[in-house]
Amino acid sequence: MIKSLINTLEQRHILDKSEFIELIKNFENQEISDYLFKKAVAIRQKHYGNAVYTRGLVEISNHCRNNCYYCGLRAENKKIERYRLDKETILACCHEGYQLGFRTFVLQGGEDKFYTETMLTDIVSSIRKAYPYCAITLSLGEMSYETYLALYQAGANRYLLRHETANAAHYALLHPAQLSEKNRKQCLENLKKIGYQVGTGFMVGSPFQTFEHLAEDLLFIAQLQPQMVGIGPFIPHHQTPFADKEKGSVQLTLFLLAILRLMLPTVLLPSTTALGTLDPQGREKGILAGANVVMPNLSPVAVRKKYEIYDNKICTGEEAAECKFCLHRRMESIGYRIVVDRGDAKTK
Ligand code: 5AD
Ligand code: SF4
Ligand code: FES
Repeated sequence: MIKSLINTLEQRHILDKSEFIELIKNFENQEISDYLFKKAVAIRQKHYGNAVYTRGLVEISNHCRNNCYYCGLRAENKKIERYRLDKETILACCHEGYQLGFRTFVLQGGEDKFYTETMLTDIVSSIRKAYPYCAITLSLGEMSYETYLALYQAGANRYLLRHETANAAHYALLHPAQLSEKNRKQCLENLKKIGYQVGTGFMVGSPFQTFEHLAEDLLFIAQLQPQMVGIGPFIPHHQTPFADKEKGSVQLTLFLLAILRLMLPTVLLPSTTALGTLDPQGREKGILAGANVVMPNLSPVAVRKKYEIYDNKICTGEEAAECKFCLHRRMESIGYRIVVDRGDAKTK
């Protein structure tokens, strides 16, 4: 019965809401999971072989004007030591990354209004000029249409902005009133319209999340048709209103990764750091459930620990080269290999 739902998903790349809920409910069933993972891996294999794409992540600032209830970088967290990287430091991170074989740079940060549009376009165009053939990905939150456009014209190619939850009522339980699910979705539409390769996603097991919400997330993603989807388990941060909430499930995250692979056969699907934080083998398991991207950290070690969006984040003491080799070994141990490539999504 459930296996036939998986077969339908494989053939049609979509289920209806009640079918998604029915399927997700089985995430703890080993036999069903194995069946699902096997299909997800076969599809990933068909499009990408055993190649794993990699991106160099540069965490440019941990300042944020927002107050998402789940995130350690929220403005009201007065205990964290804030930092910002200047243009030279960001370029030096990219330089090191290039030497290490990265061909995509991801600039990630909180919503930090210290960086004006002019400063950001200057940083992006400098990277573009230094590395004409690399992809530049931004993950800097909500901005106006005009700013997204200016950054695109300066040379950015991709933008990551998780929708967090597609359900408006659930969104309001995770964020203060200034942020809305509607605006987030509008930003995603704008990014798409401008021409960015767009990534969205959500946390698995965020407080108050139900299977119904997850089904709505999957339907939203099916409608948006993003090139990338980032999902990872929710992990509480001790200085947030959600400090005492339950963490998300690794098993459920893997199950959803596999569903996403069947829904979007060529999607770029990272096996996230959050997965590796909750389970020492989490990132390997993510790949074995259908993911095809890993995103090691290129930020200077001096600031790593300060970019703690959740507790016990891994890789905060390691140099970029150490993470690179560590991930190479990990991928090899399961029969995959990290490639030197921009890692664009294949077109079907
Ligand atoms: N646990 C897991 N993921 C988190 N994020 C923010 N806070 C947490 C947390 N406590 C995720 C959000 C955000 C991304 C940058 O990190 O989904 O979009
Ligand atoms: Fe800021 Fe992003 Fe954290 Fe929200 S999730 S507080 S927008 S860094
Ligand atoms: Fe960073 Fe293993 S990937 S230490």
